[in-house]
Amino acid sequence: MHGYTTFCPFLLVLSNFISVCLSGIDEFFQHRKNFHFQDKTNRTVYEEKTDSQLVCYAKILQRISTFYDWRPHLAVVLQLVPFPYLALEHISFMKILKNVVKSFAADTRCEVHRTVLTIRESNKGWLEIFCLGGIFCDDDGETFSLMLSTLISCCCRRKHFLLNINKLISSLLLLASRENQSCIDTLCAMIELNAVENPTHVLEIILTLQSTPSGLEKYANVYERQRALERMRQKGGPRELTLSSRFTDSLLEILLSEGSFGDLECLSLAFTRVTSACAEHLIKLPGLRNLNFWSTRFGDAGLELLSEHLYRLEVLNLCETSITNKGLTYLASMKTLRKLNLTSTNTSLSAIMALKKKLPALEECDVRYVNV
Ligand SMILES: *[C@@H]1O[C@H](CO)[C@@H](O)[C@H](O)[C@H]1NC(C)=O
Ligand SMILES: *[C@@H]1O[C@H](CO)[C@@H](O)[C@H](O)[C@H]1NC(C)=O
Ligand SMILES: *[C@@H]1O[C@H](CO)[C@@H](O)[C@H](O)[C@H]1NC(C)=O
Ligand SMILES: *[C@@H]1O[C@H](CO)[C@@H](O)[C@H](O)[C@H]1NC(C)=O
Repeated sequence: MHGYTTFCPFLLVLSNFISVCLSGIDEFFQHRKNFHFQDKTNRTVYEEKTDSQLVCYAKILQRISTFYDWRPHLAVVLQLVPFPYLALEHISFMKILKNVVKSFAADTRCEVHRTVLTIRESNKGWLEIFCLGGIFCDDDGETFSLMLSTLISCCCRRKHFLLNINKLISSLLLLASRENQSCIDTLCAMIELNAVENPTHVLEIILTLQSTPSGLEKYANVYERQRALERMRQKGGPRELTLSSRFTDSLLEILLSEGSFGDLECLSLAFTRVTSACAEHLIKLPGLRNLNFWSTRFGDAGLELLSEHLYRLEVLNLCETSITNKGLTYLASMKTLRKLNLTSTNTSLSAIMALKKKLPALEECDVRYVNV
């Protein structure tokens, strides 16, 4: 069906294929559950005879996952892990499915590799299923660390993600003590971004990192950066600062590294050349209460980061920035916001109304020239 070209013009084919496979797999296990055996030999004979059907469905899924244009859709459908529990324990089925999941993990597109994470907190995603001690782990955490290494080096080096995988801490510690790089990187990021839920784990993580040469080296770098951060956050410096229009993300970084800014509460970046990337430096200043991004290229990605780290922000000017409705969803967690300026942004009134309901402290919100 797909042929030799990179793109398949018949998108319906893909959905049909996937649906047929999923319902086939489901039916297979329904049938197996309802089948009653009188003796064990009969069961084995029956299972051997029918397993090939299951393997066939799994192989179709595997084949689909090899096509660049089909993989995103397959990944999104499989993100919900739409298989019966028995399937997740079935060895020959899961050995094939593991290749499918690996193809998601190795994909450089964020919308593909992020599907190894669950979207419902109550369900297990592929990352948990293949984790050490997970439902199906036959490779000592190799698939798990493959997923982790893509996530942590791309879009998931983030507090939100790291807090979420705190529940996998024992696997991370074990693999890091075996000097697995992606686990070492993950633990370092947890320390650096202050994303360890249980304080007693902090010491455990540090000791584990220090127990191997490469862990020790990475941790030494984190430690150095944390000391620099402490120096920067020392009391003193200006309370308010307005930067001139020549400022870029990197100039901001240099400025912050050169003095102490522990007292800084109010920062105006209006008309500067900063982008979302400056959020990475701004989150080093947890005392910020007032931020002005008027007419900059600051956008949703920057807001996402700010919302995870700045807990005291009260006034935020986003007038004429590139934020959209997506960015507004991040703002919902910034409960201290009192004044918000969304003038001339590509946001919509209905999204803003929804946001207002979630921000009890909001007194003023400028919504001129937004989408109706
Ligand atoms: C077990 O196998 C024998 C011979 O193949 C067959 O006669 C019998 O009905 C089977 N029992 C069940 C419960 O499948
Ligand atoms: C260790 O981590 C690397 C990625 O950094 C991964 O490719 C490798 O498979 C992992 N090894 C094991 C045994 O977990
Ligand atoms: C929103 O920002 C624009 C540009 O800085 C300004 O003209 C406007 O007065 C602000 N609105 C409020 C309510 O402060
Ligand atoms: C505004 O945002 C929507 C998505 O929310 C997008 O489709 C549209 O292209 C954007 N418009 C501009 C002018 O950026």
